Amino acid sequence: MIRYLTAGESHGPRLSGIVEGMPAGVPLVADDLNLHLSRRQLGYGRGGRMAFEKDLVTFHSGVRFGETMGGPITITLENRAFEKDDSQWPKVMHPETRDPSVDAITLPRPGHADLTGAQKYRFDDVRPVIERSSARETAMRVACCSVARQFLKQVGIEIGSHIIRIGKHGYSGWEEIREAADPLISQGAERLFEAAEESEVKCLNPTLSELMRDHIKEIRKEGSSLGGVYEVVVTGCPPGLGSYVQWDRKLDGQLAQSILSIQAMKGVEFGLGFESGVRKGHDVHDEITSRKSGNGNHKFPRRTNRSGGIEGGMTTGEPIILRGVMKPIPTLLKPLQSADLKSGEQSETRYERSDVCAVPRAIVVAESVIAPVIANAFLEKFGGDSLREILERLPK
Ligand SMILES: Cc1cc2nc3c(=O)[nH]c(=O)nc-3n(C[C@H](O)[C@H](O)[C@H](O)COP(=O)(O)O)c2cc1C
Repeated sequence: MIRYLTAGESHGPRLSGIVEGMPAGVPLVADDLNLHLSRRQLGYGRGGRMAFEKDLVTFHSGVRFGETMGGPITITLENRAFEKDDSQWPKVMHPETRDPSVDAITLPRPGHADLTGAQKYRFDDVRPVIERSSARETAMRVACCSVARQFLKQVGIEIGSHIIRIGKHGYSGWEEIREAADPLISQGAERLFEAAEESEVKCLNPTLSELMRDHIKEIRKEGSSLGGVYEVVVTGCPPGLGSYVQWDRKLDGQLAQSILSIQAMKGVEFGLGFESGVRKGHDVHDEITSRKSGNGNHKFPRRTNRSGGIEGGMTTGEPIILRGVMKPIPTLLKPLQSADLKSGEQSETRYERSDVCAVPRAIVVAESVIAPVIANAFLEKFGGDSLREILERLPK
């Protein structure tokens, strides 16, 4: 089974990650990870920081001659701002000594982990919470998960995503989204993200894209921020990944956990999701059809895919369609009220350069974190220590 851990602070020297349990013989080069890291860095509504920090990974173990070896894969990502001549970060993040010029941060920012984190770990300086809870960590998550994604690609499973709402602008409902996305999904989920990337806000509908972009512009002027809703799609999953027999083996539950583990994600739905609470049964369930395949066996495709490709905690063989909602960025140019940890004095939060809307970037994180979940469900079913062995075990 594939596991991964990330380590590192937002303004430390580097982020590190270890991916364990990857089968041997999977083609893997740094650019397979760098591709998704650069996708995570691009998108309308971004703040300034990423402009001078291009994320490029280095492998330190587990990969040889462009293939995984089956052992732990160690990955690092340098924080280039840390090394700059005038950088304060080596002092601020010094592992051993506190420089007297480094001030404690005592004003927690609402909407971040600041206050609860400081209370939990009994810090009188919020800095350690800011450093580890920051979404900078998602860069290493994208790197680690892209390794699993690379394995999935070898067995014909693709992942893609697109944005369906930013603030007040979005599609009217399920049918309108299907009309825009399904012709692309039928060509494989990667086609979906390629098409979405033609839009600055990663939305397939050009009129909506423009409205979303203008909305971000207008909200930036107001000194506020925006969240949104996105759809992640997985194509190529055979029926029967996950299981109904035990609560923790249900694939939808595992996928939802991975999405909600991303900073600022507040909800997940599958297929029609919350819309299924509004419709009657006949407009929700996916009727079963049958056709004879080449070897004489029956296949059972569905007339529709409103379940989002999962029934009873298992893949149906139709594309997995899940949606996530991201709350608006909590760092706001027009400040929010907070209270000082030491004095209790009420004051306004300090603004640091920040995104206005991070949904176009966050969807890459969402695509990524589900990859190890799907890969593990796949490995549980088909097993194997090497890609060659796994491919031999797949039904022809
Ligand atoms: C890709 C991505 C980028 C983000 N960028 C910012 C940012 O620039 N400024 C900010 O204040 N929050 C940003 N966030 C959101 C915070 O990390 C998040 O609001 C915070 O961790 C608390 O959310 P939680 O309570 O859901 O964990 C970003 C989140 C993601 C996923």
